[in-house]
Order: sequence, then structure tokens, then C-alpha cells
Amino acid sequence: MEFTGVLIVPFLVVSVLIVEGEEVMALPPCDIPAIYNFGDSNSDTGGIAAAFFPMAAPCGETFFGRPAGRGSDGRLIIDFIADHLGLPHLSAYLDSIGTNFQHGANFATGGATIRQQNESWFEHGVSPFPLDIQVEHHNQFQERTTYFYNQAKEPSDRIRLPRPEDFSKALYTFDIGQNDIAAGLRTLSIEKLRATIPNIVNQFAAAVQGIYEKGGRIFWVHNTGPIGCLPVSTVNVHDPLPGYLDEKGCIKDQNDMAAEFNKQLKDKVIQLRAKLPQATLTYVDVYSAKYGLISNAKNQGFEDPFKICCGYHKNSIDVWCGNNATINGTEVYAGSCTNPSAVISWDGVHYTEAANLWIANHIINGSLSDPPIPITQACNTIL
Ligand SMILES: *[C@@H]1O[C@H](CO)[C@@H](O)[C@H](O)[C@H]1NC(C)=O
Ligand SMILES: *[C@@H]1O[C@H](CO)[C@@H](O)[C@H](O)[C@H]1NC(C)=O
Ligand SMILES: *[C@@H]1O[C@H](CO)[C@@H](O)[C@H](O)[C@H]1NC(C)=O
Ligand SMILES: *[C@@H]1O[C@H](CO)[C@@H](O)[C@H](O)[C@H]1NC(C)=O
Repeated sequence: MEFTGVLIVPFLVVSVLIVEGEEVMALPPCDIPAIYNFGDSNSDTGGIAAAFFPMAAPCGETFFGRPAGRGSDGRLIIDFIADHLGLPHLSAYLDSIGTNFQHGANFATGGATIRQQNESWFEHGVSPFPLDIQVEHHNQFQERTTYFYNQAKEPSDRIRLPRPEDFSKALYTFDIGQNDIAAGLRTLSIEKLRATIPNIVNQFAAAVQGIYEKGGRIFWVHNTGPIGCLPVSTVNVHDPLPGYLDEKGCIKDQNDMAAEFNKQLKDKVIQLRAKLPQATLTYVDVYSAKYGLISNAKNQGFEDPFKICCGYHKNSIDVWCGNNATINGTEVYAGSCTNPSAVISWDGVHYTEAANLWIANHIINGSLSDPPIPITQACNTIL
């Protein structure tokens, strides 16, 4: 039996007084039937692995018991978001095996940037599927699944396809920008990189607008994390000049760049609220969650925040997680640490499942969001 004539009330407009730090009781929960995600490896659940090479063991060991297309030992923040909303983990759009798109799809690809880059996947790991291509994939996904859904003669023909009416009720999540900064740090001076940020943020806004034009209404935007705290950046810093590192040991210039991007991203999200009157847009300060975890690692049950669980990085030689190399005549296997649940960084760039869970727990309840409402209520427009 298919339900027809379902009453959809996607935009409840509720006026509430939000008192700092208090529960927002007046807002009803949302019916979120699907998640569509856009981003880089921070939220890639198998896209780049399907397009190029599978992840190597020991990735996936903690939760999946096998490599599962994720750059981590287990689940990513987007997986915990899906768990929290009672939805299945997202299949990657680019994956053709064992996928189910009934409750959304993941267009994120590891290495993805907002702007098209001139570097290659093979040289620098820059994804050939940047944000504008991900939006194109989404548009094609929406058109083709709608066609097949409507053509289906039997309900069983619709299994694994999203309901067309769910696109306007879905949560559209974004976690991208880190690689634009990383590419800029590789190829541009700090000043030139800073000057490109308005363009990067405008292209981000164009992506959101493109999805809005196709009917997307509920947007959940993660800002970018403290790239200067990634152990892969700090591991090769020896005898830094005074001021190069901040008081926590992160590279200050790099974090300043992330902070500048985030400031402009937030301003842009606020502008988009005016421009896209039927949308609700939540800006989520993931930076603060990650920096908070790194700053307080020991109090939160983690070891040295700059420890890399999986990978060999010494004397400027990098053997990435899961790889083997011969160093000074000795075979080195970059396997995982004994207790990933006490380590923040999985491979020097990506976070462990334990860290992702900690971060997810700090953003899902809305305490780091603008407006400060939990993800389960993200469909509500706050006046
Ligand atoms: C890539 O190269 C083209 C042509 O040289 C240039 O116009 C464009 O700005 C470059 N893109 C980036 C992100 O550097
Ligand atoms: C690296 O070595 C380990 C242990 O010796 C082995 O299990 C693994 O298959 C090797 N990996 C590659 C990519 O060759
Ligand atoms: C290789 O061994 C030499 C001599 O013991 C040492 O000086 C050098 O640092 C080693 N290189 C690496 C990459 O460990
Ligand atoms: C949100 O969750 C975090 C982590 O559990 C907690 O520290 C914080 O107090 C919560 N905030 C609100 C507003 O519930």
C-alpha cells in the first residue's frame, strides 16, 4: 500500500523566546525522512573509495569490522547524525554496490573542495568531485530517482528509492571548506589565500541556492575545523619560532585562516536566510567542538591530542595508515594503535570514531549552532 495525499506541513513558523543555555521547549520535532550530504572526507561514507581505491585495513576496524569507505576506524559525524535521527547510514551516490537511497544519499567525496582546483587526485588527493559537481550529482539523483519512482508498477520496484515528496522535507547537510584552505596553503601565500575566501564562500552559497531551487528547504551547515591542529601538520614542526604555535600546540596561521573562512561562511549563511525565504539554515560551529576536544583531551578521556593512531610519521617520512614501506632496510607496517577509543586522530588528518562521537554529541543538541536548536528541530524557522 502506498500512501497518497499525505498532509505535509514543512514550515512550521513558531515564535519562541530563546534564553541562552535553556532548552527550546516550544519547538516541535521535525519529520526528517532523509539526509542529503555534501562534503569532503570528514563526511565521505564511501564515495571516493568507490570511485578510485577502497580504503585499506585497518580503517573501519572499530565499528564495521572491515574497511567501509570511511577515513576512520569507525563512524563519522554524519553517521552519528543519521543514527540520532533514526535513519540508516548514508550510501554514497558514487557507489554501485549494496546501496540504499530510500532515506538519502551522500555526495561527499574525500579531498573535495568548494572551488574547482587545478591539482589532481593522484598528486594531492584533491577530489575531481568538488561541491558544484556534487550538486550536479544531487540534481541528477533527484531527477532520475523521481522518474523511476513514478514509473514503478509495484511497490517493490520502489525499494531503495527515495519518495519524491521527501526532497523538500530532507535535511541537507554540508561539511566542506577544509580542503580549499589546505590547497590554498600549498599553492598561495597567506595573503593571497585570504583574498580568495570571499569567492570560496560565494561558491558555497551558489551550491545552497542550487539545491533550494530544486526544492531543498532545511540546511545544516558545518563550519570547518581547526586545520592547524591536525597532527599531520604539527608532527613535522621542530623548534618553531615563537608564536608559530598557539598555546595548545596548533599552527596559528592555519587556524586563523579557518577562523576567517568560518566568519565569512557564517555571514553568508545569515545573508542566505534573507535571500531564500522558505529555507531554514543552521550554522554549526564544529570548529569549537573540535578545538574544545583537542584543548581538553585529557579531561575528556583522551591521550595526547597530537598522537596519530594509525600511520608512521618520523624524520619527514610519512607512511599512511594501512601502508607498508621499507625504511632504512626495515619493513614498516603503518597499523593502528592499541586503543583507538582513547586517541583523537585516526590517521593524522581524520578523527577516530571515539572523537567523532564526542564531536557529534556536542553539536547535535544545538548548543554550538546558530540558531541554537537541536538537529531534530532544524526544520523550524525561528523568528
Ligand atoms: C585553475 O587554473 C585556472 C587557469 O589557469 C585559473 O583561472 C583558476 O583560478 C585556477 N583555480 C584555482 C582554484 O586555483
Ligand atoms: C602490509 O603488511 C601487513 C603486515 O605485514 C600485511 O598484512 C598487509 O597486507 C600489507 N599491506 C599492503 C598494502 O601491502
Ligand atoms: C636511517 O639510519 C641512519 C643511521 O642510523 C639515521 O641517521 C637516519 O636518521 C635513519 N633514517 C630514518 C628515516 O630513520
Ligand atoms: C549539549 O551536549 C553537550 C555534550 O553532552 C553538553 O556538554 C551541553 O551542555 C549540551 N548543551 C545543551 C544546551 O543541552
